[in-house]
Amino acid sequence: MLEHEIKVAIAGVGTIASGLLQGIVYFNEYQEKRKNILHPIIGSFKPCDIRIVAAFDVDTDKVGKDISQAIFAPINSTPKFIEVDNKGVIVEKGPVKDGLSDHLKSVITIADGEEIDVVQKLKEAKAELLICAIPSGAEEAVKAYAQAALEAEVAFINCTPTMIACDPSWARKFKKANVCLVGDDLQSQAGGTVLHKGFLDVLKEQGVIIKDTYQLDVAGGLETLNTLDDDRKQYKREVKERTLKQAFKNEINLASGTSDYLEFLGNRRIGHFWIRGEGFMGMPIKIDIRLETLDGPNGAATLIDVIRATKVAINRAGSGPITSICAYGFKAPPVFSDRHNAHKWFAEYLEGIRAE
Ligand SMILES: NC(=O)c1ccc[n+]([C@@H]2O[C@H](COP(=O)([O-])OP(=O)(O)OC[C@H]3O[C@@H](n4cnc5c(N)ncnc54)[C@H](O)[C@@H]3O)[C@@H](O)[C@H]2O)c1
Repeated sequence: MLEHEIKVAIAGVGTIASGLLQGIVYFNEYQEKRKNILHPIIGSFKPCDIRIVAAFDVDTDKVGKDISQAIFAPINSTPKFIEVDNKGVIVEKGPVKDGLSDHLKSVITIADGEEIDVVQKLKEAKAELLICAIPSGAEEAVKAYAQAALEAEVAFINCTPTMIACDPSWARKFKKANVCLVGDDLQSQAGGTVLHKGFLDVLKEQGVIIKDTYQLDVAGGLETLNTLDDDRKQYKREVKERTLKQAFKNEINLASGTSDYLEFLGNRRIGHFWIRGEGFMGMPIKIDIRLETLDGPNGAATLIDVIRATKVAINRAGSGPITSICAYGFKAPPVFSDRHNAHKWFAEYLEGIRAE
């Protein structure tokens, strides 16, 4: 094992996991030519320093397989960009709890066999951090993984919208245990939320009064099928809308979320942005934009930065929510900031001039 490796465990071998594993190989192969990420190096770590040491899922098509094969299970819609070598890491059956919504149960069969003891596995694999990338709204399962990370004293990265880093009681528990915590709800590189915020910020900075706006997606990945369940859809929508409302202090009418699942779109996500505002002398302004992206690489680009920054936090013996990393990489951070400030905090944290 190399000294410089970041030993990562992941719960949920889906779209994001596929983007992450392929992204690490991709960066390694093409790093001189096509970086396409903001931070090729973070605290001396490159993406290729990330090593998966344990993986958990519940799907019979993934459990028992090497993670390099599980990420290409047909149910995962992230396309194959690059070959991923065998990792010698077998996907284990994690605690199922409420991981699968009724819609997911119609396409996923739960693997037979016992659920693994996640705490023991994290310790055996010498994992330094656990990424939680299971479906939105799986509150009990997310909390089970957060608790396991605490008990194994492994940093926790919460990609899901379940409130962990934002929840003061979880934040206190991680702080007390001297374990790093980052989240909640990963923000994609060029995702609907970050771009919507960006468009609105520019208009606001230019003195335009924004009246009403929406950003609605249709997509074809598993996560979108999952959010067809009304409760889960509402939950995800509330997190996205809260992010924008914090930025605009409830001054505008807004809607943001995923509006439908279209299987034939596969990993593609089509976002529609609509903004109505008022410029100088009451000039009407209307903006109508369409965005097309792929969920896997979009989420993985941010995650690759977040993992390396969290390793920096671990090396500095950080504990509890690392607010700069949360504000930089997540839609619902414990301390909210606009994008410019979030990037500034992130840079200052990495330079060591900001405490958390
Ligand atoms: N770009 C992105 O993909 C993106 C961006 C922001 C946030 N997120 C969030 O990240 C999370 C994962 O997204 P995804 O697109 O990779 O989802 P996905 O649906 O593609 O994959 C989820 C995986 O979790 C597995 N799973 C279900 N219950 C489990 C359990 N109890 N234990 C272990 N595994 C379990 C499923 O079998 C599946 O393989 C979601 O909560 C999503 O909201 C994703």
